[in-house]
Amino acid sequence: MNPFAISDALSCISVDVHTTELFEGIWPTPEGVTLNTYLVKGKKNALIDLVQDRHKASDQVQTALQTQGLDLKAVDYLILNHLEPDHTGWLKQFREKNPQAEIIATPKGINLVKSFYNINENLRAVKDGETLDLGNGTVLTFFETPNLHWPETMVTWEGASGTLFSCDAFGSFGALGGRLFDDEFSPPELQAFEKNTLRYYANIVASFSPFVEKAIQKLAGLNIACIAPSHGLVWRKNPSAVIQQYQRYASYSKGPAEQEIAVIWGSMYGNTKQGLEAVLEGIESEGLPYSLHRVPDDNISYILAAAFKSAGLVIAAPTYEYALFPPMAYVLDIFRRKHIHRKTALRIGSWGWSGGAQKEYDASIAGLSWTSIEPFEWVGVPSPQDLEILKNRGRALAQSIKT
Ligand code: FEO
Repeated sequence: MNPFAISDALSCISVDVHTTELFEGIWPTPEGVTLNTYLVKGKKNALIDLVQDRHKASDQVQTALQTQGLDLKAVDYLILNHLEPDHTGWLKQFREKNPQAEIIATPKGINLVKSFYNINENLRAVKDGETLDLGNGTVLTFFETPNLHWPETMVTWEGASGTLFSCDAFGSFGALGGRLFDDEFSPPELQAFEKNTLRYYANIVASFSPFVEKAIQKLAGLNIACIAPSHGLVWRKNPSAVIQQYQRYASYSKGPAEQEIAVIWGSMYGNTKQGLEAVLEGIESEGLPYSLHRVPDDNISYILAAAFKSAGLVIAAPTYEYALFPPMAYVLDIFRRKHIHRKTALRIGSWGWSGGAQKEYDASIAGLSWTSIEPFEWVGVPSPQDLEILKNRGRALAQSIKT
């Protein structure tokens, strides 16, 4: 199937990676992930973004080039929109096979080529708006998109076909299984696939949402016919769909997000769980949707995606040794690092011989701009009066999200 033709001059070499290795060493990809490399042919040839040196991805790229009658030595330019090793891990080996190809990146990107890979020859730092004419009417233009999601990031534009090579921006988790383009997927399949896009955004991009908005504004003047990211679908039928998805996700960072509640809970011996059930009753009485995520059982990648998408949070966890239940402390630390801002949150939990969880919770969320529903703690098993209070707290949270 590889490579997939985008136009006479452009094609995508898309590698599905299925691995239990965590993406960035943190995030699971049980549905796989794609690494997309692009071949641009004029009188000169360019590759846009590379792949890792693992999972036989580089073998697949070389095989795909051979189907075009090319080998690595036929590559005149290697354009690196972004230096994270999922797109550059194979760079050293590429360079050994082709010492002559000119490597193109932003000035910060070129510095990373030197420091990550000790490559110092045939490098070209390009400025914002600079062009590269490959001949035969194929001209590439480079636009800096800093902090999307690394400082050195740029995108590459091919005007004849209206294709934007956006690297991580507009990307997604999820392998594609021999398809690539949005028009090869049914509307229900695209809808189902969006959960991969949301989780990718929440895990990788969300901290940089203001820069997503800046980049979309900056590129708004381009007549985009095709969005070609380095992970996931290539959008040639409806590129505005993924732009709108990313705009919506970026807006979650400013709040409010979707009218739903992510319920994150942990319980040692069932007392906090019992109190939580009363909270859920209160939420249900208001008809608001919610999702349940237990710690430490559920992976932080999914918890982060649910919390990012939801306007409301329930944080249900007991006191553990005078402090917050440790798996919940980890969740809140990730929320702080990933800028999960502007939520309306209810914290509840039981304690035994001493409290302490609420104090640590308050310190953990300071700076997140959360609106707190009055928290509630109880000793041991919740009493009928406690359960009534908890039910009312759940109702109050739901009402607050709806208004
Ligand atoms: Fe897909 Fe930030 O690398």
